[in-house]
Parts: sequence; structure tokens; C-alpha cells
Amino acid sequence: MKVLVATEKPFAKVAIDGIKSVIEGAGFELALLEKYTEKKQLLDAVADADAIIIRSDIVDAEVLDAAKNLKIVVRAGAGYDNVDLAAATAKNVCVMNTPGQNANAVAELALGLMVYGVRNLYNGTSGTELMGKKLGIHAYGNVGRNVARVAKGFGMEIYAFDAFCPAEVIEKDGVKALSSVEELYSTCQFVSLHIPATAETKNSINYELLNKMPKGAMLINTARKEVINEPEVIKLMEDRADFRYMTDIMPAANAEFAEKFAGRYFSTPKKMGAQTAEANINAGIAAANQIVGFLKDGIEKFRVNK
Ligand code: 3PG
Repeated sequence: MKVLVATEKPFAKVAIDGIKSVIEGAGFELALLEKYTEKKQLLDAVADADAIIIRSDIVDAEVLDAAKNLKIVVRAGAGYDNVDLAAATAKNVCVMNTPGQNANAVAELALGLMVYGVRNLYNGTSGTELMGKKLGIHAYGNVGRNVARVAKGFGMEIYAFDAFCPAEVIEKDGVKALSSVEELYSTCQFVSLHIPATAETKNSINYELLNKMPKGAMLINTARKEVINEPEVIKLMEDRADFRYMTDIMPAANAEFAEKFAGRYFSTPKKMGAQTAEANINAGIAAANQIVGFLKDGIEKFRVNK
């Protein structure tokens, strides 16, 4: 059996070493396609793969068609909006993610972006502090929970809204559960996004919602760029000189944001929330173990296409 790691943005070497030992320890072969630049390279590499480990790499119908032996794709990470689930199901290919494995890394980056923002992008001028400020966590999954844990250490007052997570679960962590998304945005000066990109959430972070935020508002996005209505956020930031946007997912209109909102806008050059040795090891090795469990024993825990 051949397991391919296909990562345009590669794992840390130490994670590859761990993946290799799990895959080879199970008697399988490991192949690597890292830092590829053309889709053709991926199409060629998947031709004889029985399993693939990916990150944000696009696995669409064309890739699935090219992978004649494919049985399983594991997205080493949380969001699987980069995989065509319907096409995978049609080809009887199992798709899994590795929930929670990179959550702490993303949460630490979210807080890092907040500090960078309130300290005026470290430009030497007097900034503000996070202690005592209201933080809204938009969706209380693995990353949201970790953001709450880290933000507590900063002394923030923490609120969350999650349409699917019961209030009791949120409140057990000492976080105030709010009953609507509008309430979250009108209550909190800081909002950290942890929603997936789905048909319902795409473009949902818009002018009307963000304009509810109190003075000195900051939106932190370590989730997905698709959830942002970019033209409306640009309009809002034109209308509100107090509004700041810190993102780990470069918007399509990055140049316009950077030019118009210098000092209150920042984007990482490449999504780096999960780009730590620890997260790579956790997610990469979990993916390798899930593949071995599936191919050897048919274990389907963490399957996302039913
Ligand atoms: C995720 O969904 O797990 C994160 O967005 C990380 O994505 P990455 O593996 O491409 O860094």
C-alpha cells in the first residue's frame, strides 16, 4: 500500500519523520510530494496512491479521478472545505480530518494577532492592553475552546456564540454563552472567527454584522477567507476609522486593504496558524495513524463523508 503526503505547504521535518515511522511500521510505503507548484504534479503523484495525507491542498474531482487506487484522504487539520466530498463519496473514497490536533497552534496565533493589533503593529507608539476587554469567540469548536483558555490568561472577559454547541458546555469553561451572532458582535470589542467555510457561512461576515461592534473594534480571522464579505469589510473600514482587521488568511483584495488601512490591517503572507512543529507532528501523525487504522482494520472514526 502506498501512502502519499501531498503538501504544497510542507510539514516540519520532525513531523515527516514521525509519519514515516507510523506508515513504514505498518508495512506500507511512504511517498512525498512537498512544495509542489503545479496541479499536474499532484495528478501524477496520486496515480498509484492508496491513501493521501493533505493540508489545505485541493482534492477535487479531477484529482480523485487521477487517483485510481485511492481508498482514503486524510486532511491533516480541521477544515475540509478543500476536498470535494460528493466526488469522494461517489468514488467510494473515505475522507477524514484530524479534529483538534492543530487547535492550540491556531489559538496561540489568534492571540498573537490580537496583541500585534493592539500594540499598533509594533510600530513603537503607545497601544492598549487586552486585560479586561471583551472577546467574542464566534464558534466554540476545538480552536474556539483553546482561544478561550489562552485568552483567560490575558484576563479578558470571554463570550461565545455557537449555533451547535449547547450553552452549558460553553459556560463550563467560564465563558458566557450568548444566544445570537448579533449579540456576540454588539457585545464584544474583539471577535475571533472560528467558523468553517460552508454554503451558510460564506460571505456571512458583512457590514451589518461588523458595524454592531463597539468602538475600537478588532476582527481576528484565523478561520477562512471565504466567510468574509470583502467589499463590505472594506466599506466598513472606510466608514469606521476605529475598526481593525487582523487575518491569517490573505484576502483576495489584500493590496487594497493594505493600501487603504495601513496600521489597522495585517495579513500573514501565508496561512500559518497551524504552521508549528507541534501542530505538524500532532496532525501529521494522527493522519498517518488514521490511515493505518482504516486500511488495516476498517476504522472510520473521524470520517466526514458518510
Ligand atoms: C485547518 O483547517 O486545520 C487550518 O486551517 C490549517 O490549515 P493548514 O494545514 O493548511 O495550515
